[in-house]
Amino acid sequence: MAEIRAYRPSDLDDLYHICLATGASGADASNLYQDPKLVGHVFAAPYGRLSPESALVVEDDEGVGGYIVGVADTSAFEARLEADWWPALRETYADPKGPGASLGWDDRMRRYINRPPKAPPEVVEPFPAHLHIDMLPRLQGRGFGKALIDRWLGLIQAMGARGVHLGVGETNARAVRFYQAYGFQRLELPQYPGALWFTTTLDDEPRGPA
Ligand SMILES: CC(C)(COP(=O)(O)OP(=O)(O)OC[C@H]1O[C@@H](n2cnc3c(N)ncnc32)[C@H](O)[C@@H]1OP(=O)(O)O)[C@@H](O)C(=O)NCCC(=O)NCCS
Repeated sequence: MAEIRAYRPSDLDDLYHICLATGASGADASNLYQDPKLVGHVFAAPYGRLSPESALVVEDDEGVGGYIVGVADTSAFEARLEADWWPALRETYADPKGPGASLGWDDRMRRYINRPPKAPPEVVEPFPAHLHIDMLPRLQGRGFGKALIDRWLGLIQAMGARGVHLGVGETNARAVRFYQAYGFQRLELPQYPGALWFTTTLDDEPRGPA
């Protein structure tokens, strides 16, 4: 049995663990990173710490095995990260030398921490909210991905969000299929090679209990 529940501060280590265990286009990235926390510092932990009200987890008898995190207002969150999240990490993780394309896995995250890219305006203006969803293999393919997104969209809609986006690496074929099957629309942005963008709009009618 597994259940979806609201995020708790004690789930933070699980966010780090799941983010790393799914960090290579949906597959385990733990052999790729020297520092096991780097990818979670970027893509999971700041949401738990700074926006716990818009985070949900899936828990079964083995513990927390999946999450969905995100925010209603991406630009406001980027500003919050700049004020309250990146500065402490920059004291530990220096910006690596060299062009982005030449960097290894750890250094790419160090670069991200020091020079975080902003979400493209073509995406963030019409679709200000964004999400990240990751589950360990034992919870994949069982309907929890859809259930997490259903719940999260209800939550974010209740916070006033009317447009949502997400980015996915083009090599993550399973996630791309999943977002298409869910009903997200693809946004074509050829100027960002390697990344695919999916969007959805939310109307004013409640989606049901969040
Ligand atoms: C991508 C991801 C979120 C998709 O979630 P998921 O629940 O595994 O979604 P899937 O579409 O793979 O599986 C759904 C399957 O569950 C099955 N399913 C749906 N509802 C179900 C239910 N109530 N009970 C049991 N099974 C159900 C369906 O048969 C569906 O299979 P189908 O695609 O053949 O129709 C998840 O696989 C994941 O976390 N992957 C690793 C991390 C990752 O890549 N994250 C995205 C980064 S952008």
